[in-house]
Amino acid sequence: MKIKEAAFVISNSDYKLCPTDERAEFAFIGRSNVGKSSLINMLVNNKNLAKTSGRPGKTQLINHFIINNDWFLVDLPGYGYAKASKVQREKWEKFIVEYLTRRKQLLNVFVLLDCRLEPQKIDLEFMNWCGEKQIPFSMVFTKIDKLSSTALQKNLAKYKKEMLKYWDALPPVFTTSSESAFGKEKILNYIEQIIDSMK
Ligand code: GTP
Ligand code: MG
Repeated sequence: MKIKEAAFVISNSDYKLCPTDERAEFAFIGRSNVGKSSLINMLVNNKNLAKTSGRPGKTQLINHFIINNDWFLVDLPGYGYAKASKVQREKWEKFIVEYLTRRKQLLNVFVLLDCRLEPQKIDLEFMNWCGEKQIPFSMVFTKIDKLSSTALQKNLAKYKKEMLKYWDALPPVFTTSSESAFGKEKILNYIEQIIDSMK
């Protein structure tokens, strides 16, 4: 899939105020600072489309970007940001849960995981929750430029083993780097395949 156009549409904290046209959409979620906004920018070849930051807690709203005037990529706030206040966290959690469970045109959630970390409880719980709610998701390991390929393979194996404790089969797994653009074609082709299957 070629990205010809990518533009910001709207940010808000209420799924009911998200675009009402029923175009396919794909959301990016994961712990704060894992690289969600950077991955969106990498996929669309525009470093300035989604706001990124070295400090966690940058993305705070549901952000819709329209791609090729046809479908949406959605940048979400991160979970597990320790410095956010309890009230703020509960507010985010409520609108993200509502968005994820009520948005019918949401065809796949990309769950981002830092490839350098051991399997994290919060991510495993989130993926299990997606399973319970029947929200289709795939796993995307980020920042692979920061690991040697041996260390990466070791961490992936550990993660897969952990997932297979809860699941009979693994969801699609992608490995990416927003620095080198590794993984771009595979993710875009996966999105294209899902869009085509809906036609
Ligand atoms: P929040 O919006 O705060 O939840 O964070 P986010 O998940 O959107 O992360 P963001 O894209 O803002 O990136 C966080 C930091 O990680 C930034 O300093 C990025 O430059 C860096 N980063 C993201 N992806 C990669 C990657 O693939 N490789 C490297 N080396 N750094 C990355
Ligand atoms: Mg972000």
